[in-house]
Amino acid sequence: MAGSGRWWWLAVVMLVVSVSEPAFSDPQTEIVDQGCGLYHVSDVPNYNRELNLSFADLRNQLSSANKHFATSTQKTVYAMAQCRKYLSTADCVACFDAAVLVTRNCSNAGVNSAILVFDGCFLRYNNGYFYDQSIDEIIGGTYRVCGNRTASKQNIFNATAAQQLNELLLATPRIHGFYAAAKLQEESPGGATTYAVAQCAETMSESNCKDCLSVAYNNIKDCLPNSADGRAGVDAGCFLRYSDTPFFADNQTTDITPFLGRGNSSGKKKPILAGVVGTVGIILVLAALFLWYLQSRKQNAWIRGNILGTKSYIYKDLKAATNDFSEENILGKGGFGDVYKGTLQSGDVVAVKKLIAISSRAKANFETEISLIANANHPNLIRLLGYSGNGKVLILVYEYMANASLDKYIYGEKRGMLNWKQRVDIILGMARGLEYLHEQFDVCIIHRDIKSSNILLDDEFQPKIADFGLARLLPENKTHLTTKFAGTLGYTAPEYAIHGHLSEKVDIYSFGIVILEIISGRRSSDLKVEPVTEYLLEQAWKLYENDEHLGLVDNNLDPNEYEAEEVKRMLEIALVCTQSPSKIRPSMSEVVVMLSSTDASIIQKPQNRPTTITDFNKRMPTATNTSTLTNATISFSRFSGR
Ligand SMILES: *[C@@H]1O[C@H](CO)[C@@H](O)[C@H](O)[C@H]1NC(C)=O
Ligand SMILES: *[C@@H]1O[C@H](CO)[C@@H](O)[C@H](O)[C@H]1NC(C)=O
Repeated sequence: MAGSGRWWWLAVVMLVVSVSEPAFSDPQTEIVDQGCGLYHVSDVPNYNRELNLSFADLRNQLSSANKHFATSTQKTVYAMAQCRKYLSTADCVACFDAAVLVTRNCSNAGVNSAILVFDGCFLRYNNGYFYDQSIDEIIGGTYRVCGNRTASKQNIFNATAAQQLNELLLATPRIHGFYAAAKLQEESPGGATTYAVAQCAETMSESNCKDCLSVAYNNIKDCLPNSADGRAGVDAGCFLRYSDTPFFADNQTTDITPFLGRGNSSGKKKPILAGVVGTVGIILVLAALFLWYLQSRKQNAWIRGNILGTKSYIYKDLKAATNDFSEENILGKGGFGDVYKGTLQSGDVVAVKKLIAISSRAKANFETEISLIANANHPNLIRLLGYSGNGKVLILVYEYMANASLDKYIYGEKRGMLNWKQRVDIILGMARGLEYLHEQFDVCIIHRDIKSSNILLDDEFQPKIADFGLARLLPENKTHLTTKFAGTLGYTAPEYAIHGHLSEKVDIYSFGIVILEIISGRRSSDLKVEPVTEYLLEQAWKLYENDEHLGLVDNNLDPNEYEAEEVKRMLEIALVCTQSPSKIRPSMSEVVVMLSSTDASIIQKPQNRPTTITDFNKRMPTATNTSTLTNATISFSRFSGR
């Protein structure tokens, strides 16, 4: 929207290049960061009505006496607007109006929040309080945009710019209003000139402003080796920008020298912050060049500080790799979000997972969670390669498995393709992967969603567990049963489904169910598979009780491939895994031992008919502990999601 206006302005600048006044009049509506919230508000018309009230209030405040920061609170809306202080009141209001217009696509979509960062101003609203936030409660809530032009005398420029940004970092939190604009001219021969601003939301504390700017600085410094200009910031409302060309007038700089006191006197000479330098003509030419490059600059990088052991990907690249997240590229749909096949520019093929809503607790600990996942290295776990986050969409990038997921080989399009030995190997590999997650990794990671579609197969048909660690990122109310999980109920341990009792034993129950699926070629949630009308677990128990183990085996298997003893062993292990957790449901390392040994005597014997979710449902609300329920009648058919 500012584009055509700028071309016109550029023409004027070029015409009046010898006139003596720089005309820094422009609301600077280049989009730096933009996004809508993830959650839908319940009463959209009311929310939007309150939003309109907030916008009117903010505009009113910005229009009055030189105000460049405002907040407005309604019953359910918190809104904040901020202009760089070099903007005139008219430009500030124009920038704000443009921001409101862009965020309309969020309010029209009925979501709870929006963020828009222009070069000249910042607008954010949310249905929760955020005014004093610094860097917590944000997920990927940082941004960085590096220009694609290189400064002349790059090394000198880089050193000068880094120094200037450092000084702004130090001074800005100490300055009333948390804003500074500075111009730094290196005195040395051929010295470079840099222009930079720093700003924090005025409702932050000094230390929050400092923290926020540090995060922004860590991001912006990656622009420096190559770019003559860059911007970075945090959604909480702090912003940093540097350039080798002016974007504010010389008489709009802040004298930051008094705020630089470092508490020690190294005696090192401070660079001189120049007031007015150079001829106006040169500045005008630079301004024209600046506008020129703004037109061509389109490189956006959504970055969060690097997370140990991972790579941070640029959203744009992932979008291109997945053909704009097209339907054809979808590899699978899951409770955590859809997975796409992506081909990176390098030619590498990856699996790209776009996550759905994430919990606020996880947001605060996002980096820890991701580095946890990234550092879980085991041959039977899918490897996390990296991530990309821009505050609204969080994307995880995984290694790609050509052979798709186990469910396809059990009862899907590739059914019958796995022989007995391959099936046994898959069971053992899964057990090892889970043993690692539960008992050998730094912390115990409970998967919570073990099922055959979460087991991927590599070229050698070795199993790799996917989606581990993700349950920790889900909002609390989604951590156990919701519609998202309803599809996997056949796998969910009853004590978890009904009472929310979470321990690593819930994975072992699900693992037992997957063993039964692998042996039988049946889907656990299918009720009727000729000649029986019962669920898989029910059928397995009955066959076990009647000593008819072989009745469970997939007809697609060649009977010469397996021995009756081995089938019996597998069935017993599977059933032992589905026993009541307080009694004899084993740990994963015990399961590994049982699976690896041919000594039948070490295998624990399943004693009770396994309990299921619907057993609990029938007994509720009188049921108070799991042990009273183990004798309940098996009936899978009436589960109702809670
Ligand atoms: C809010 O303002 C916009 C723009 O003026 C208008 O289109 C919309 O109808 C208003 N919404 C409500 C709920 O008043
Ligand atoms: C800055 O300079 C411009 C042009 O010289 C002038 O119009 C403006 O009033 C000055 N602003 C301040 C704050 O001195």
